[in-house]
Amino acid sequence: MSALLSVHGVDVRISGRKILDGVSFEIGPGELTGLIGSNGAGKTTLFRVVLGLQALSAGSVRIDGRPRSRRGAAVGYVPQKFLLDPDLPMRARDLVDLGLDGHRLGIAWPSRKRRARVEEMLDAVDALRFAEARVGSLSGGEQQRVLIAHALVGQPRLLLLDEPLANLDISRGEEVVSLLARIAREQSIAVLISAHEINPLLPVMDRVIYMADGRAASGRTDEVVRADVLSRLYGHHVDVLNVHGRVLVVAGAGSESDLAGHEAVLPGPGHEHGAALEVGLDGVLGAAGEQPPRPEGKAPR
Ligand SMILES: Nc1ncnc2c1ncn2[C@@H]1O[C@H](COP(=O)(O)OP(=O)(O)O)[C@@H](O)[C@H]1O
Ligand SMILES: [Mg+2]
Repeated sequence: MSALLSVHGVDVRISGRKILDGVSFEIGPGELTGLIGSNGAGKTTLFRVVLGLQALSAGSVRIDGRPRSRRGAAVGYVPQKFLLDPDLPMRARDLVDLGLDGHRLGIAWPSRKRRARVEEMLDAVDALRFAEARVGSLSGGEQQRVLIAHALVGQPRLLLLDEPLANLDISRGEEVVSLLARIAREQSIAVLISAHEINPLLPVMDRVIYMADGRAASGRTDEVVRADVLSRLYGHHVDVLNVHGRVLVVAGAGSESDLAGHEAVLPGPGHEHGAALEVGLDGVLGAAGEQPPRPEGKAPR
């Protein structure tokens, strides 16, 4: 794999506090990578690093083999927090169109070509239906799709999405995730999606970067989502349980941590916090160590 994004030994310190600690990983074109970690793990900071918005204390970031300062049009970004005022006089179509200027300052697009490109992107995210609506009046899921089109229209090679599922219900989340997986494949771009729950991404993820406390473990899902790897990452014992095709990461026996609501518990779809308690630990411990299912046709790299 020739890496499209290569992050090597990155440390970030803010006011003397280590926010990222020796983070290294690579991702390649056409791959969808999940960046998983609870609140405060360092996911947004890592995105800011890749975007060149955050200074490094150590390490390096290369995009397509070049230092990140030269990123230019190569990176599309959908930030974690966006708030579009319902009265903002801007149609969904206009917002997507703006994405062309952001990436191509100084280069005028002929208007016919420009319209066609915007149309193509609206279609790719299935947003043609509400293309003429005010963006602020759209639902969270619809706004999300328009913002993805906005990020894609400049033809980035790398697309970063910070917690795109946080404000969506489960079925909308599944739609967005499978849309992104398709875009990654068809347009051969690398997609990096952060989330605090691993389960919605399991069916589509090629690779995972798991973060805890500024540190990261990365690789194929079956290489990373394992009790030994995650225990090392968290610095205390955790168990990885497979329950009906879902993965639960729970603080293990002998750990002082509280099970329910603890950062090591990754709730699955439906936000059932502490679901591991509901299913009864005795019944599922035998499943620990099983690998999460791999989508059909994805050979291990
Ligand atoms: N500008 C900043 N100043 C001080 N602390 C920060 C700043 N940005 C992030 N942090 C801290 O860094 C840690 C990681 O934050 P963040 O990257 O936002 O995590 P995540 O996106 O995974 O929730 C948190 O403890 C946060 O408080
Ligand atoms: Mg964040």
